[in-house]
Amino acid sequence: MDFTEETATAAVEASFAGTADPRLREILGSLVRHLHGFVREVEPTFGEWEAAVGFLTATGQRCDDQRQEFILLSDVLGVTMLVDAINHRKASEATESTVLGPFHMVESPPRELGDTIDLVGTGQPCVVTGQVRSLDGHPLGGALVDVWQADDHGFYDVQQPGGQPPGNGRGLFTCDDQGRFWFRTVTPSPYPIPTDGPVGGLLTATGRHPYRPAHIHLIVAAGGHLPVTTHIFVDGSPYLGSDAVFAVKQSLVRDFTEIDDPGQAAAYGVEAPFRHASFDVVLQPAG
Ligand code: BEZ
Ligand code: FE
Repeated sequence: MDFTEETATAAVEASFAGTADPRLREILGSLVRHLHGFVREVEPTFGEWEAAVGFLTATGQRCDDQRQEFILLSDVLGVTMLVDAINHRKASEATESTVLGPFHMVESPPRELGDTIDLVGTGQPCVVTGQVRSLDGHPLGGALVDVWQADDHGFYDVQQPGGQPPGNGRGLFTCDDQGRFWFRTVTPSPYPIPTDGPVGGLLTATGRHPYRPAHIHLIVAAGGHLPVTTHIFVDGSPYLGSDAVFAVKQSLVRDFTEIDDPGQAAAYGVEAPFRHASFDVVLQPAG
């Protein structure tokens, strides 16, 4: 039978019929049906097909152990957050997950509770406090809280080697026996995702901005529980309603309250005025 518009999809799907792994066969069949459906709907010219191949080629060329433009593409197309949503259909009380992002690329330095992750000392001081609990409410003493964030100008340490000390904005904290954690930092700022590659070109061509609202990243883990990769978002931050990677969840937005009380500032070892955010984390039991 000729390969025609009418027979194309069934022919390609049938070519994978011998795939031994049933899940791979299912995925390939669905890919072929959706991809052919897309091509039938769009009816690309050969010039457009070449442009698409060029875009994907350029995207691959910006991938190495420091940069992953395909994940960034997945992020700005909402695919990362859709996969996250499908894989974290969680119990309603557990802390919601959100995107990991590309900047958790180095191990966070272990720090003591109350330490600062700000090794530079510019920007408005900020204190973050919280407690890690299980779904039934019992505190998870010894839980690990891995945090990372951009500096007050919106850059991660790994984006400015030589400009920021390694480990700036990062810390691995061990909760006390009541599951409590607290650390000092700078109040985070909104910042753009990397725009110097093909994904930046896509955003420009489509009139989309590249910004993420101000946030602090966390991965929280405790024995016998599912870890959560999440953010604390700053209430009132620009771009909360239009995050370039669609990662905002209302349950993760917190007031970063300004406190101008020298007594409270001294208790946390910061200068007044400072901001305080409280973020409790609830983990689901594993299994
Ligand atoms: C981030 O928040 O670090 C991030 C997430 C997705 C894409 C780029 C950056
Ligand atoms: Fe980030």
